[in-house]
Amino acid sequence: TRKVTTHRLIEMKQQGKKIAMLTSYDYTMARIVDGAGVDVILVGDSASNVMAGNTTTLPITLNQMIYHATSVMHGVERALVVCDMPFGSYQVNPTEGVTNAIRIMKESGCDALKLEGGADIIDTVKAILAAGIPVMGHLGLTPQSINKFGTYAVRAKDEAEAEKLVADAHLLEEAGCFAIVLEKIPALLASRVASELHIPIIGIGAGPQVDGQVLVVNDMLGMNKGFSPKFLRRYADLHTVMTDAIGQYVSDVKARTFPDENEQY
Ligand code: KIV
Ligand code: NA
Repeated sequence: TRKVTTHRLIEMKQQGKKIAMLTSYDYTMARIVDGAGVDVILVGDSASNVMAGNTTTLPITLNQMIYHATSVMHGVERALVVCDMPFGSYQVNPTEGVTNAIRIMKESGCDALKLEGGADIIDTVKAILAAGIPVMGHLGLTPQSINKFGTYAVRAKDEAEAEKLVADAHLLEEAGCFAIVLEKIPALLASRVASELHIPIIGIGAGPQVDGQVLVVNDMLGMNKGFSPKFLRRYADLHTVMTDAIGQYVSDVKARTFPDENEQY
């Protein structure tokens, strides 16, 4: 099993091979996700929601992201591992952005970083790339800007925002990003970006005419009953599987049927 590289992803786009990407935040899940053949694992700042129970991605810290990325790296052999730079770690200026980017790379050993935004952060993107660190872009519904948007609704539905998104995507490609995530935008717009750009476009709620797809692993496994956006396909009902299993354990303990004679020393 050869390790997936950023160059391989660009090759996959050229060959018309779709890229499968999922999040992971810990060693045990990352081993399963990697073993199942996912090409790219994202240590998403969605860990703030999924792991820590925050309502936004804003509170997660650089040290917490490094802990998640380090844990994921211990479980991965094949997938390319991309770590989100958390809110506040790259918005101040390029120098701080590079310093924090280098910390994530050194301390976690991950393969690449993802930053939200286009023109606003392009100098920082260029500085991180100049340090030799591969960068994935992220446009559309960028959750670190939720307080600016005021809603998790679909982005770039009007022409002005759509044209700005296309321009930002070109800026990121020209800067040297190896891929871009497009989140929750009209399928037609995502399709246009994927055909205009040479680097892979990974969609989430961006339709099928892009070069790959990403989902939050806990959501696609059905561990979370509450979150049901239109773009989310559930491939399992782990909430029910886990609740039944844990309920059975509780019953067995109460009924004194666990442990039995084979489950003791
Ligand atoms: O943090 C995350 O999970 C993400 C994906 C949804 C793209 O950024
Ligand atoms: Na994210």
